[in-house]
Amino acid sequence: MDSAYAIPSQTRETVTSLPKAKDMTHHLNQVTKNRQASSLKELYKYMTYPGMSIMSWLFPATSQNSSFTIPKYVSGPPNPAAIQLSTSLQYQSATGPPALPLFLREYVEKVYKPAYADWDVLINVGATDGWSKIVQLLLEYGDAILVEEWTYPGAENTFLPYEIERVAVKMDAEGMLPEHLESVLRGWDEEKRGKRRPHVMYTIPTGQNPTDVIICEDEPYYCLYTGEWTPKGSASERSVVAQRLADAEKEEGSEGNEAFIKALPPSFLAFDVDGRVIRMDVSVGNLNDADSQTFSKTSTPGSRLGWITTSPLFIERLTRATEAGTQAPSGFATALTTTMLQQYGFDGYIRWLRGIKALYNMRKTWLCDALADEFHLEFNSRSTLFPERSQTITGYAKRASSAWDEKRGLKGPALLTFIPPTDNLVLFAPGWGFDAGGEHAIGGNGYGYYRLAFSIATYEEVRVAMGTFSKVLTKFFRV
Ligand SMILES: Cc1ncc(COP(=O)(O)O)c(C=O)c1O
Repeated sequence: MDSAYAIPSQTRETVTSLPKAKDMTHHLNQVTKNRQASSLKELYKYMTYPGMSIMSWLFPATSQNSSFTIPKYVSGPPNPAAIQLSTSLQYQSATGPPALPLFLREYVEKVYKPAYADWDVLINVGATDGWSKIVQLLLEYGDAILVEEWTYPGAENTFLPYEIERVAVKMDAEGMLPEHLESVLRGWDEEKRGKRRPHVMYTIPTGQNPTDVIICEDEPYYCLYTGEWTPKGSASERSVVAQRLADAEKEEGSEGNEAFIKALPPSFLAFDVDGRVIRMDVSVGNLNDADSQTFSKTSTPGSRLGWITTSPLFIERLTRATEAGTQAPSGFATALTTTMLQQYGFDGYIRWLRGIKALYNMRKTWLCDALADEFHLEFNSRSTLFPERSQTITGYAKRASSAWDEKRGLKGPALLTFIPPTDNLVLFAPGWGFDAGGEHAIGGNGYGYYRLAFSIATYEEVRVAMGTFSKVLTKFFRV
C-alpha cells in the first residue's frame, strides 16, 4: 500500500521553541465535542505496514487515467452543455454545470425509473456530504432514526454527534424485516421514550415498505450485485429465467445493456409515488482505465462528486444548504467527470458499469473459493453474510463458542491479532464497527464478525490472506 496513505499528524514534529496552542475546548459546541473518530478511517494507520494485505475496505487501487482535453474556451455558438475551463474554474451555481444534471436525469429516468413526475437531481461532494445535508434537513437534535442492524459507520458518524438515537431494525438477506420494523414503529411510546416516533430511515437497501417515514437510500453497490456464488463442483440454483437474464447480460451492445439494467436491484424510487425517498449516489466520475486491476465501486472516490435524487421540495431546500455549505462541488471534478460522461454517453457508461460488475464477480469468486478451501462453510437459510446465498462460517463459531465467550470482552479478535508486529498481516474491518447496537437476526452472541472487501486484493493476496485468517483463528480458538 502506498505510503501516501500514512496519517500526517502521526509523523509531524513540532518546533519546540514556540509555545503550544492553549486548550480552547470550552469554546467547542456540544456537537463538536460529541464527534468520534471514524472506525474505518482509524484503520488507515495499519494500511501502510509493509506486506499488509488489505481486505478491510473498498479501497481504490492505483489507476491509470484516461486522457482527454478540456478547452479553456469552447468555440462555436453558445452551448450551455459545453464544458470549458473558463466556466468550470469560476464560481458556479450549486447545481453545477448544466450538462451534468442533464446526464444524471437521463440515467435516473432509464435506470431507477422513478414513479412520480417531478423528481430531480442535485450534485454534491459525495454521499457522505449528501447524507450530512440530509441529516440537517430532516432530523432534530436528540431525534431517533431507523437503521439496519448492520449499518455503515460513516453514516452514523454524521448523526451520532447530534445525540440522535439509532433504532436498529433486524434484517435478513433482503434488508429490514418488515414485521420487526412494524413492531418497532407500532410499539413506539413517545412519552416513555421521551422522543417522537422515528420519521427517517437510513437504509442500504433492498425491500422494505414502511409507512410515513422518509427513506434515505444509500446504495453505492447496487450495480455490483453479481449473483450467487456457487461452490466449485456444485450446480447453480438459478431459475431458468434468472439464467436467461445472466446469459443475456453477456451479450455485447444494447441487448446486454438492457439485461444489465433489468438485473439491477430496484431503487425505492421505482415504488415511491409520494416523494418520500431520498436516494444518494456516490460519484459518477471514473477516470480509471478499463484495466481490470483499477476499480473501486463505480468511481474514483477521490473525485468527491455524487448526487441526490428526490422530490422538488427536498431538492430546493438542499440547494439552499449547498449554497451555504460547499457552494458547489469542485470545478475540476465536475469538468473532468462531465467531459468523460459526454464522451461515454449513456450506453457507453452502462457498458463501463457492466465491466466493473464482471470484475467484481471474478473477485468475489476468488474470495469465496479461498474461504471454501480454508474453512468448513455451512449454508444457513436464515442468515446471510454472502451475496444472495445464505452462508456463514458457522463451523468455527460452533466448535469454538466456549473459547469465544471467554474472550468476548476483546470486541472480537480482528484488530488484536492482525496488527503488527506479527506475521499475520491481514487487515479486516472488525464487524463491531458496523453494529447498530440492536438485537441481531444475523448471528448474535457467540459470533464474531468481520467485513471483508475484495475490491483491490490480487488473486495471490486473497489466497494468502485467507490462509492467514484460518491460521490465526485456529490459534486463537485453540481448535
Ligand atoms: C454505504 C456507503 N455509503 C457511503 C459511502 C461513502 O460514499 P462517498 O465516498 O461518496 O462519500 C460508502 C463508502 O464506503 C459506503 O459504503
